[in-house]
Amino acid sequence: MTARASLAIAIPEAARTPATALRRAEPCTLVIFGAGDLLHRKLIPALLHLQSDGLLSADFAVLVVGRGRLDDDSFRTEVRSALETLDEAAWERFATRLHYLPAELDDPASYTALRERLAALDATLPGGSGHLFYLAIPPSLYAQVINLLGESGIAPRVPDPAQRPWVRIIIEKPFGRSLESGRALNACVRRAFAEHQVYRIDHYLGKETVQNLLVFRFANSIFEPVWNRQQVHHVQITVAESVGVEHRGKYYEEAGVVRDMFQNHLLQLLTLMAMEPPVTFSADAVRDEKVKVLRAIRPITPEVMHDYSVRGQYGPGRINGIPVPGYRQEPDVPPDSATATYCAIRFMIDNWRWHDVPFYLRSAKRMPRRVSEVAIQFRKPPHVMFPLHEGQIVEPNTLAIRVQPREGVALRFEVKVPGVDVRMASVDMDFSYAEAFGELEHDAYETLLLDCMLGEATLFTRSDEVEAAWAVVDPIIDFWANKRPDHFPNYPAGSWGPTVADEFIAREGAKWREPE
Ligand code: BG6
Repeated sequence: MTARASLAIAIPEAARTPATALRRAEPCTLVIFGAGDLLHRKLIPALLHLQSDGLLSADFAVLVVGRGRLDDDSFRTEVRSALETLDEAAWERFATRLHYLPAELDDPASYTALRERLAALDATLPGGSGHLFYLAIPPSLYAQVINLLGESGIAPRVPDPAQRPWVRIIIEKPFGRSLESGRALNACVRRAFAEHQVYRIDHYLGKETVQNLLVFRFANSIFEPVWNRQQVHHVQITVAESVGVEHRGKYYEEAGVVRDMFQNHLLQLLTLMAMEPPVTFSADAVRDEKVKVLRAIRPITPEVMHDYSVRGQYGPGRINGIPVPGYRQEPDVPPDSATATYCAIRFMIDNWRWHDVPFYLRSAKRMPRRVSEVAIQFRKPPHVMFPLHEGQIVEPNTLAIRVQPREGVALRFEVKVPGVDVRMASVDMDFSYAEAFGELEHDAYETLLLDCMLGEATLFTRSDEVEAAWAVVDPIIDFWANKRPDHFPNYPAGSWGPTVADEFIAREGAKWREPE
């Protein structure tokens, strides 16, 4: 039996005012390469929100560089029509800051035009202190654009972070598709920029609840003494999606779930959960500790791969009662595709804090619900003095940090059920962000864009970190790439994954949680 008790939390008025008001972006021009989905769905809405919150500088402009033969006016019309909701006055203000340059990204002549256009824009922003370049383009074009930005002198290397005007570059995921290609891309980036100029995005780090993992762990003293192998039985990190691959079949065939979700988002959650306390809340102090975790992950060799990982692919099924196709029936997916859409991996972290504590990570498309959480299952009491009914067990305490949706934290513990006999039940003490602070309104991209405009790199992946993450997943990807699955599809859309995944975790004496 499980009951839920909400926490009565008094939030001081001061905590409700946007703390971000303390942080206003530095004046700059943001140059976005690529006018695709990311720009329309994420970047423009994020910038509009930042403007509404008064967090953009008065001296701020956006220049989008794309292949379409548009001018400023026609581009603005296109952007406006793609917006889901529109505050007319806010849009008018934003539109005057939005500019467009048609260009061929592999043509040096386009970079001459870009330099001239930037100079003209700079002249209209007297206080402008920097140029921020955003690669919102297919990863196959990253190296070319980085090289041409460097060679044309548009984005010079700036060795000193304090130098003005500053020059920064944002690179979207995926950052490479293996350790080798990740290293090659880092080498290319390094030839053009100093590391402090580079912001590699993992949008999970911009999520409020992911940042809260740091605050929860390091602004409270009561959790640290139990955050270790003495008290923790195992950890489960789940990132479940109910959507399929949608229109991204071509990309997903190349990526698969481990590249798409584990190398970045899930390993980021793992590092934040497992890292040692950083000395300061500065980019390098935090990232140093995260890299140490990645390096302490026990390598998974081919001989033991089956004990450490299982994979799956969804077949046709139902989500919320509605029939949906299987992965092999999705557009651009071959009917005999061997690409995994589900994966569960057991990671062991070989250090003093976590020795012998399994970290089970799983992620999949087409699960029953969209839900992400980090759950810590504590050890059971060594001895139970209470009489148990036949078949009754004492449930272990669990701390679940809900990343999305219903963002919050729940602690499950045992209580006595009122009555004359001694009966136990599990209850949740539940903190909900929405109840305490209202619905979370900021998208991860708002936080991340603002941080880039302020030169704060804590929520971005450093070069050694991205390579360490590839080093962790590469052997898993290679192993499975060489084994043709004869059992795919092995879970119906709308289920919690293949039965092999249940057997996999049961072998270790654990059971998947059904996230809330
Ligand atoms: C992206 C993946 O990085 O993250 C997608 O490429 C996935 O496949 C998405 O759907 C999930 O992000 P979120 O924020 O919706 O959990």
